Amino acid sequence: MYELYLEKPGDLKAKEIATATALEDNEIKIKVIYGGICGSDLRVFKGSLPYANYPCRPGHEVLGTVVEAGKNSPYKAGDKVASFPNTYCGECEFCRQGKTNICESKKSFGVTVNGLFAQEVVIDSEFVVPVPADLADERAILVEPFAVNVHGLKRANITQGTSVAVIGCGTEGLLSIALLNHMGADVTVLDINPAKMERAKEFSKNIKTLHPADVKNQLFEVVVEAAGAKASVEQAFQIVKPGGAVISLGITGDEVSYPAIRITRSEVTIYGTIIYTKKDFTDAMALLQDPTFNVAPVLSKIVPFSRYQEAFDDALSGNFAKIVLDFRGE
Ligand SMILES: NC(=O)c1ccc[n+]([C@@H]2O[C@H](COP(=O)([O-])OP(=O)(O)OC[C@H]3O[C@@H](n4cnc5c(N)ncnc54)[C@H](O)[C@@H]3O)[C@@H](O)[C@H]2O)c1
Ligand SMILES: [Zn+2]
Ligand SMILES: [Zn+2]
Repeated sequence: MYELYLEKPGDLKAKEIATATALEDNEIKIKVIYGGICGSDLRVFKGSLPYANYPCRPGHEVLGTVVEAGKNSPYKAGDKVASFPNTYCGECEFCRQGKTNICESKKSFGVTVNGLFAQEVVIDSEFVVPVPADLADERAILVEPFAVNVHGLKRANITQGTSVAVIGCGTEGLLSIALLNHMGADVTVLDINPAKMERAKEFSKNIKTLHPADVKNQLFEVVVEAAGAKASVEQAFQIVKPGGAVISLGITGDEVSYPAIRITRSEVTIYGTIIYTKKDFTDAMALLQDPTFNVAPVLSKIVPFSRYQEAFDDALSGNFAKIVLDFRGE
């Protein structure tokens, strides 16, 4: 069987490796169906994540079928599962409060520890979630990046008609837009790339687009910052209404400045949001099962894993939303 493998940044290869034989009691072996390429895989590929470890097998978003299960795992052969890409210790102060997403000893598959882009993977069954048998693979593979948004949007009070600006229409922004559209929010999207904003309109003709340079006096009750750039974070603080909230989802290492007096005087709330808990995964899965939930514009294409180079190049081009590798076949 084959795995994708990064000896060092920029040097991605498909490597033939032996299939694992002995499983620990809590482990399962999964035959991988799909693997979604994520922004963090691209950063590990480029070498721009300072805490990534090499050599490394990339990937953390996989969907697969259990082929073998250790005796203490709750799964059996034939079950479909999706990976839960970040481990947690279960014992620290935060894990004990159920906040496994901010665990002090969190490890990330494909970044700090070996990832999941292989035809077969062995994984602790704690770090997968069951996938309903009737859920299409093409929807189930979106559960991880979608759970990020399910977690993030829960933090503010968003109901039908709430005016929400989403800054950044990459995969994460689009998944926020999908959920906001489903919730009946009044959505305006901003992106420096007009083609990205056009994709957002595929969810609904009611979605408004606004180039970041064309913002005049518009203010929004909630602003979802999903671009992760200094300029977009600063803009988020400028376009939030008094009494409103900024959901800070994008990640940047840059220092940003914000109008402290306005945040204080206007009682603006800033919500940091990082990944998800198992509950968010379950909630995301339930939404993906709802046939009225439109998520189709997020999936750009599915490519056989042997064409990994093309898939990574396309993902790096910024011209696509989610690109998925198909790990079945030769
Ligand atoms: N908080 C979390 O748990 C979490 C999880 C996953 C990803 N992220 C972060 O979310 C962000 C988005 O991820 P993604 O995979 O969608 O990235 P992406 O690169 O696919 O999308 C970013 C989008 O922002 C746009 N953009 C860039 N600068 C902008 C600006 N100044 N104004 C408006 N738009 C701008 C780009 O054109 C692009 O469409 C990243 O910063 C990523 O690290 C956070
Ligand atoms: Zn991801
Ligand atoms: Zn912990």
